[in-house]
Amino acid sequence: MQSQTEQIRDDIIRHFLNHPNTPVSGEDLSQALGISRTALWKQIRSLEKIGFGFEASPRVGYRLTEIPDELLEPLVQRELTTPISLGHKICWLQSCASTNDYALEIAKSNPVHGFVVAASVQEGGKGRYGRIWTSPRGGMWFTVTVQNPCAVAQAADLTLLASVAVFRALKAHGVDCQIKWPNDILCHGKKLCGILAQMRTNAERVEYAVIGIGMNVNFGIADLPEEVRATATTIYEETQQTLYRPSLLAKILTELDALYTALSDGYGGFALVREEWKQASATIGRHVSIRRSEGTIEGMAVDIDNRGSLLIEMDDGQTTLVHSGEILFSSSEQV
Ligand code: BTN
Repeated sequence: MQSQTEQIRDDIIRHFLNHPNTPVSGEDLSQALGISRTALWKQIRSLEKIGFGFEASPRVGYRLTEIPDELLEPLVQRELTTPISLGHKICWLQSCASTNDYALEIAKSNPVHGFVVAASVQEGGKGRYGRIWTSPRGGMWFTVTVQNPCAVAQAADLTLLASVAVFRALKAHGVDCQIKWPNDILCHGKKLCGILAQMRTNAERVEYAVIGIGMNVNFGIADLPEEVRATATTIYEETQQTLYRPSLLAKILTELDALYTALSDGYGGFALVREEWKQASATIGRHVSIRRSEGTIEGMAVDIDNRGSLLIEMDDGQTTLVHSGEILFSSSEQV
């Protein structure tokens, strides 16, 4: 959870955002927050270190002149256009091992629905299949906690719906992308975003789940390890432009909120967005090779069912449903 210092930091940011272009008196602000002038001064210094800019005028106060591109709660929340239940609390860390691990640790004692952990850098980011997820500065590394989201039988919907939410948000921000089964996001055939869900279940329900989303945004490919450069990409690499990450996170949370609400209310999970998923898919209609625990199979990905399983037509004409696995390649393309 957030420390008291972090909560005061966010209150200070909120106060400045609510007073754009006006100098804020240090005296008034420290009184309003119940902290000393020295404590306020220290907070202002640490805000400057994370990219905020202030103009200080003697006897008048501080004026906010610069806002950083970081996933801080007040910056994300002011980008929300509708009230949602996800992201009412965002714990932003300059660095952590893994936002999923951090969220899981908190969820063990108190799984607060909608609690988000975001980090500027991850030192031990985790990918699927126990892989390392390189998470340099400039990316979006965050985890959303959802409580009692669905039946165990629908657990796969959590990641499938998350990929749809990310897809919609990227499209809304002008990024050309596709979904690769089961839940990777590609840009021009290369991986831009991965999703890792971890959950606690009982016999029937998912008690809580942490949905970790990692997106390569405002950094170049040189910041990723050499071995993934042929198959991964970043938004900056593809568009030569930077995206304001708080706005993208607000959109992802908004889309995710709508999809997860429908899922937990029983109005529909993946089945509801299946057609949209197919339209966005980089997989359907391709010849694929899928690595599964029971062995690799090859064939044409012809459809996806209401549970998110892939229908593969093999060379001998037989069809099979694949529930989980990893697509290795499709013809000569890396999708
Ligand atoms: C994949 O292998 O495709 C999944 C990658 C998931 C990475 C994200 S980054 C935020 C969250 N924290 C982690 O340690 N992993 C996930």
